[in-house]
Amino acid sequence: MSASHPPGVSPFKSDILKGQVALVTGGGSGIGFEISCQLGLHGAAVAITGRRQPVLDSAVEAFCSEGINAIGIQGDVRKNQDCERWVEETCAKLGGLDILVNCAAGNFLASAEEISVNGFRTVMEIDTIGTFAMSRAAFPAMRQRGGGRVVNISATLHYGATWWQAHASAAKAAVDSLTRSLALEWGAFGVCVNGIAPGPTGGTAGLSKLAGVDASEDDVNALVASTVPLGKVGSKWDIAIAAVFLCSSAARHLTGDTLVVDGAAWMWREPA
Ligand code: HXC
Repeated sequence: MSASHPPGVSPFKSDILKGQVALVTGGGSGIGFEISCQLGLHGAAVAITGRRQPVLDSAVEAFCSEGINAIGIQGDVRKNQDCERWVEETCAKLGGLDILVNCAAGNFLASAEEISVNGFRTVMEIDTIGTFAMSRAAFPAMRQRGGGRVVNISATLHYGATWWQAHASAAKAAVDSLTRSLALEWGAFGVCVNGIAPGPTGGTAGLSKLAGVDASEDDVNALVASTVPLGKVGSKWDIAIAAVFLCSSAARHLTGDTLVVDGAAWMWREPA
């Protein structure tokens, strides 16, 4: 069956997020870049954050060349003051805040025996505490606007268990729990909180670094695709367009859920 919209071509109108302001942590590269771009191409003004100024600068330049109103704000999601400053600057420069995408993440492959306590803490601080700190910083601005959307980028590592990912699995399990807790508490203020759990996604650090094999990108993709029921590795666009959906009015009654966007990879098994 052929899709009515080819990959990369949005099925949504280009103005569905018009007038909205989005803040995307980790928006300068990888999945965060593509989410920022797609939110912008659907009408949102976008603030992106990250640790590396040159990465932010080149992302903002790329977004502006697409006609997107974008700014980059440097900082570290592990610093609570940076989270609060990002929200303040976004509101001051772009006029408010409607959408927060928590995409900043840290990860590496290591056995539980090899991960130092500080390494475990580092990933928890970026993924879990960073998601909480940013959500907490953003909530007053959303409440003031009468509502908003929070999208937490998660993973499927913790559905069951994943080798050499004890730290990231624990961090993302806690993120999913936060998605539900915040949805429960913030629903009354019109703030919907959802997650997206990407599976193997082409062109990301998650795939190239974490696949754990020394091979070309094409070979890694082919290897991973053979373990995906839909028969292919997902693209950054697949994740980004799910984020657009979650931020659109089509998802207005959807909160506390984590959408798995992985071609059913997490449930793949060898045929019996
Ligand atoms: C073991 C490691 C390590 C490694 C860091 N550490 N890298 N331990 N193996 N490869 C340990 C360090 O030894 C140190 O502990 C502690 O973590 C902090 O490391 P620093 O380098 O001082 O911290 P920092 O520079 O802040 O960066 C840490 C990091 C980094 C965020 C983890 O690796 C990074 O920037 N990664 C890029 C982001 C990334 O990969 N994103 C993709 C996420 S994909 P000690 O004890 O020595 O002090 C994702 C989805 C998963 O999350 C999907 C999987 C398929």
